[in-house]
Amino acid sequence: MARSRTSYFCSGCGHEAHAWSGRCAGCGEWNTLVEAPQAAPQPAAGPRGGRARGAAASTPVALRDVSAPADQRLRTGILELDRVLGGGLVPGSLVLLGGSPGIGKSTLTGMALGNLGAAGHRVLYASGEESPAQIRLRAERLGEAALAVPTITETSLEAVVATLEAERPDVCVIDSIQTLHAEGLSGAPGSVGQVREAAGAVMEVAKRLGSAVILVGHVTKEGAVAGPRVLEHLVDCVLFFEGERERSFRTLRALKNRFGATSEVGVFEMRSGGLVEVEDPSARFVAEASAAPGSVVLCSMEGTRPLLVEVQALVAPTEIVPPRRVANGIDRNRLAMILAVLARHGGPALGGADVFVNVAGGVRVDEPGADLAVALALVSAHRGEPLADSGGRPLACFGEVGLTGELRPVGHADRRVAEALKFGLAPVIGPRASEQLDGLAAADTLRAALKASNRRGVRAVA
Ligand code: TYD
Ligand code: MG
Repeated sequence: MARSRTSYFCSGCGHEAHAWSGRCAGCGEWNTLVEAPQAAPQPAAGPRGGRARGAAASTPVALRDVSAPADQRLRTGILELDRVLGGGLVPGSLVLLGGSPGIGKSTLTGMALGNLGAAGHRVLYASGEESPAQIRLRAERLGEAALAVPTITETSLEAVVATLEAERPDVCVIDSIQTLHAEGLSGAPGSVGQVREAAGAVMEVAKRLGSAVILVGHVTKEGAVAGPRVLEHLVDCVLFFEGERERSFRTLRALKNRFGATSEVGVFEMRSGGLVEVEDPSARFVAEASAAPGSVVLCSMEGTRPLLVEVQALVAPTEIVPPRRVANGIDRNRLAMILAVLARHGGPALGGADVFVNVAGGVRVDEPGADLAVALALVSAHRGEPLADSGGRPLACFGEVGLTGELRPVGHADRRVAEALKFGLAPVIGPRASEQLDGLAAADTLRAALKASNRRGVRAVA
């Protein structure tokens, strides 16, 4: 008897294997391969199906002869979202919105659909996660526009596709892609096979009808958009909504964007009436910054926008071997590197201490320019002395720390310093810039930066 052809996909990296094994050959993770039985081959399969032998050849067309509609963006009315999208949703595009449960994906998409509907666009919200009553309760908090959004609660892929065909919305939200279930396929909803099939089918109709579709996707503990990792190449845009659930700040960033920059970041705050755009996040974070030991203000760049955030550190002696290294909002490996450089280049050796570093407000900083702030916060925490000046103004800094203890330049030094000046936080300690900058206290090495910060609070490093 012929065996049915079964493939296995890694839920982490999407690697395809023909036999199950405990460890994925693609990414080396254990226990990530899941079975994805193939649907019976159909003649003239969907967009990803292969052509039969002997099919007619396609005629290539020069790109200038391809008709491209003018870049008509659908504005969601949520400025931060529009900015991250590169100016609004592109008709016919497929956007994947990832984030951990409870972060506010349904709230954000519900608000966007409400605004789009109020602006006269045809919208559709397809939810497989919640009951109509639950969705209504959320919409009640968001206001009249959100209550007017046409909604279906459906987990069948076929039914969702049929509704799309019938309603022909300009914008549709599918919340979430992991709840959709294709009848022709075995495998639980959310499995890699199901997610691929569902996204492929939705993409096919969306492109045909010119509907913009936002696929909501949940994220695993490790931070990968579960299953949807395999969708990243398929969709036009991957947005990531993050923040700490207990804290009110949320950041939205684009990991991939075929129609705009990937560097833009939107900042939101979750309030009782939905998400509110934070237009001047620096002001919020600086106002909240404490002048306590272990606190430093980092002049970071979020895309094209300078952002001042508070970096906090705590250093506590410990008997535990190896000591704890906890990093919230910065990369853990980066923290390990900074600890090592500090120990060798003029800072304290913290091998016998637990170290905790936190970027306040649940913000994530993914740039090497945060190194110096982490280093100075650690030194201040270790000494138990604040870096704030006598007036209680926190110390502001930025810069990448190299392995040999040098302070390396990072992009947009001028805008970082200007942002700090705006809040009266100059002089800013940072690497030497290509031009002379007012308000910058330039240092060439970590050692020099430590010295410069000493003048404010921390005693000379022994
Ligand atoms: P939700 O959008 O349901 O998250 P997700 O779809 O990403 O799982 O929002 C979850 C949280 O947001 C929930 O804990 C309640 C809170 N929330 C508010 O604080 N204010 C509001 O106006 C709304 C609608 C939700
Ligand atoms: Mg939800």
